[in-house]
Amino acid sequence: MTSGIDLPAGFRKLSTVERRKLLGERFMLQQDELDATAGSSELLSLADIMVESAIGVMPVPLGLAHGFLIDGVLRSVPLAVEEPSVVAAASYAAATVRRSGGFSTSTTEPVMTCQVVLSDCGVDAEEQITAWESDIVQRIEPLLSGMQRRGGGYRGMDVARLQQTGLVRVRMHIDVRDAMGANVLNSVAEQTAEFLCSRLDCARLMAILTNAASQRCARAQFSLPLQLLGRAGYSGRQIAERIVLATQFADEDPERAVTHNKGVMNGITSLALATANDTRGIEAAVHAWAARSGRYRSLTHYQLSDGVLSGSIEAPLPFGVIGGAVGFHPASRFALKLLGNPDAATLARIAAAVGLAQNFAALYALVAEGIQSGHMRLHSTRLAWSAGARGDEVAQVAERIAQLGRYNADGAAAALKSVRSGQ
Ligand code: MEV
Repeated sequence: MTSGIDLPAGFRKLSTVERRKLLGERFMLQQDELDATAGSSELLSLADIMVESAIGVMPVPLGLAHGFLIDGVLRSVPLAVEEPSVVAAASYAAATVRRSGGFSTSTTEPVMTCQVVLSDCGVDAEEQITAWESDIVQRIEPLLSGMQRRGGGYRGMDVARLQQTGLVRVRMHIDVRDAMGANVLNSVAEQTAEFLCSRLDCARLMAILTNAASQRCARAQFSLPLQLLGRAGYSGRQIAERIVLATQFADEDPERAVTHNKGVMNGITSLALATANDTRGIEAAVHAWAARSGRYRSLTHYQLSDGVLSGSIEAPLPFGVIGGAVGFHPASRFALKLLGNPDAATLARIAAAVGLAQNFAALYALVAEGIQSGHMRLHSTRLAWSAGARGDEVAQVAERIAQLGRYNADGAAAALKSVRSGQ
């Protein structure tokens, strides 16, 4: 005996319109719920070719964090995110950092790695594979011709026998230029596996890229004189010292590091989503990087010297501007245009700056007045909306909720009543 609502076996073969009609009936969906996920017929068709059993689109808010001065260029950064404070925090940090020259950023070359994993290999498999490198490169060359034209391509391989399993692991390193690289890396891995299995007496366990992307790092940093930092009764020096200490705490305490780095990812993931990059791949890479010492630690670092607070970040940021959904989905093209159609390295540098900005904004508030007053101010607009306020009323009701200090449904209902009765 099973419970729950079953769907017909042929659900995936229905059209999007048929699927949505069926879901509306079976799950008793309200009209506003259906409308919110309907997009347009063009977007539904696009969704249908992007995922199996597409049933709609998710309209995540897209905000613009503006005023980012990055390597001397002013940038507006589209962020797709449901959390109220993220865009506001990014713009606030951008404005503060802009007052002292903005962010400077850099990247490594965009080298990604794939793994070919072989089992049941003979004792001299590693030497044999190493000796066949030029044959392997010849074999995969057609896959890399586009990348080679753009200055990328094959960058080397290494072979190792793993101690615990006895598996032989071949890693291939490819400069993917403007792509995220997953497709080409996976094809390289599979072709290499096929070639090796045709020559060696061994079996392919798997062939796939690694999302670690630890060779594809972006860095960002800024410096702020202490006189720009005073806040909530703290002097600039006190704030700077507290930010440094807060980061040391995150470095020491993995539980805090998770939240500290979540703040960093508020910016990076929102930018990845806005540009239709692979948010999961980027997050996996960044969190693995944060744990590379064996302990999960802070992604950002701050120091205070000569009357200046400096903040920095370094992390693998495998953003692409071509391939996958990037550049293909019109929403991603929209975001890339607002960013000035950057190449992948520039996009990764912007992401590093936005991640650092988010972290700085969070720490700046946390070590001063705390974040809750700001968050609650933003939260009150949602409460006002849920209570039934619309149009200009939303801001008035939100304001009244804040005056009442009652950030819940009852408070919102009372605030709405008071605004409507003019009291
Ligand atoms: C909230 O989305 C992010 C913060 O919790 C980050 C932090 O604590 O550093 C404010």
